[in-house]
Amino acid sequence: MGSTCVVGLQWGDEAKGKIVDLLCDQHDAVVRYQGGANAGHTVVADGVTYKLSLLPTGILRPGIECVIGNGVVIHPPALLKEVETLKKQGVEIGGRLHVSDRAHVILPYHLAEERLTEESASAADHLGTTRRGIGPCYRDKVGRVHGVRVGDLYHPAQFREHLSRIIDYKNRLLAAMLPEFDPLDAKQVADEYLEYADVLRPLVCDTTTWMHHSLAQGKRLLFEGAQGSLLDVDHGSYPYVTSSNSSAAGIAAGSGVPTRHIDRWIGIVKAYTTRVGGGPFPTEQDNDVGERIRRIGREYGTVTGRPRRCGWFDAVAVRYSSRVSGSTEIALMLLDVLSGLDEIKVAVAYENKDGKRIPELPGHVADLAECRPVYETLPGWSEDLTKARSWSDLPKAAHDYVRFLSKQIGVPISIVSVGPERLQTITKVG
Ligand code: GDP
Ligand code: IMO
Ligand code: MG
Repeated sequence: MGSTCVVGLQWGDEAKGKIVDLLCDQHDAVVRYQGGANAGHTVVADGVTYKLSLLPTGILRPGIECVIGNGVVIHPPALLKEVETLKKQGVEIGGRLHVSDRAHVILPYHLAEERLTEESASAADHLGTTRRGIGPCYRDKVGRVHGVRVGDLYHPAQFREHLSRIIDYKNRLLAAMLPEFDPLDAKQVADEYLEYADVLRPLVCDTTTWMHHSLAQGKRLLFEGAQGSLLDVDHGSYPYVTSSNSSAAGIAAGSGVPTRHIDRWIGIVKAYTTRVGGGPFPTEQDNDVGERIRRIGREYGTVTGRPRRCGWFDAVAVRYSSRVSGSTEIALMLLDVLSGLDEIKVAVAYENKDGKRIPELPGHVADLAECRPVYETLPGWSEDLTKARSWSDLPKAAHDYVRFLSKQIGVPISIVSVGPERLQTITKVG
């Protein structure tokens, strides 16, 4: 048996955390390969809720090694704070966490740069980001001149010099654009980050080599995607995306592990759709149905607390994202949230404003914004599903709904989830 990936197929928050946690039993290490503290993965175990942002979800399981790979962007104070919070919740981290020396570092000017665009006078520039400095840090990574990697922190003299040049540049830029901007002091920032570096030193290594050694010993890796495939910078609803390859396309680049090691490609979907932040959302229900889903599904952002936009399942979008992420099986989450609806709709195609049928997800955001969903309507069910533990515990209408989605996506559904707890999971479907 080889390695596994768990990747969201919608716009994030598909409940990846719950599935990663469940699959830990069959793996040796959990690997984050992209994104940063914009992610918020929730695990509920024995009534206790844990929230993971930068840390791989495997950290909750004693004995599981955890890797923050080269493709992740790290804000050191956020990482240290998360470690502290988990320790207070009784989570033992010990020597299980490994942080890539190639991962890029989020610095204070990244947060200021993001404020600049997100608060700019032109609403068209607002993406509705999580404001964790993710976009500006990836921009500097790709731009090269201003990039800072974790490994740079262990060459203090060069780091101080490099940072002083960067901060000189950023101060001038930010002061010109933001009249109230307080210039950053390069020495102060360097001192602060070198202190973080000291604390992080035992964790930092070449994680790619570490993972290849593990694989050579027959260990199994579990790649934990953050965000979702429709937020992928190349394959998502650009520009309303995140700044990394959040589909399975990011795994090889963001970890240094070729994907031939993976033989289980799990795509995670909710039984409906949510989205946080801006961007088109054809099946959005800005009405009683959307409000009901938000209330019952507790659809509020884990990171920012923003109410999530809610709507019907979009099979057009998921057919596309499951291809991009190579899903060989689907975990269908939050099915319990749909109980009590007389009927449930699923978008099976789109129509443009001239009434022309559009079977595939359009690549341009303006075309997507004009699409109207073509729905198929299925009967709902009134039963509470949260106590279901096996396929036969589900009512017929729920069976029909699960089978319909699987047929629409073209991929088997292997897991159905009916509540946040580990036990509220059905693993033998149909
Ligand atoms: P992630 O970012 O993909 O890990 O997902 P989030 O943690 O942001 O959001 C998923 C939310 O749904 C969390 O609060 C989970 O505890 C919760 N959850 C997970 N599975 C289920 C389920 O089957 N039913 C219900 N009602 N809640 C679930
Ligand atoms: P998890 O891993 C849902 C969204 C933001 C915004 C866009 C860009 O919990 O599923 P960014 O801060 O990344 O530059 O914001 O992406 N976004 C998420 N939405 N779940 C997430 O993570 C998200 N991470 C970013 O709301 O629309
Ligand atoms: Mg989340």
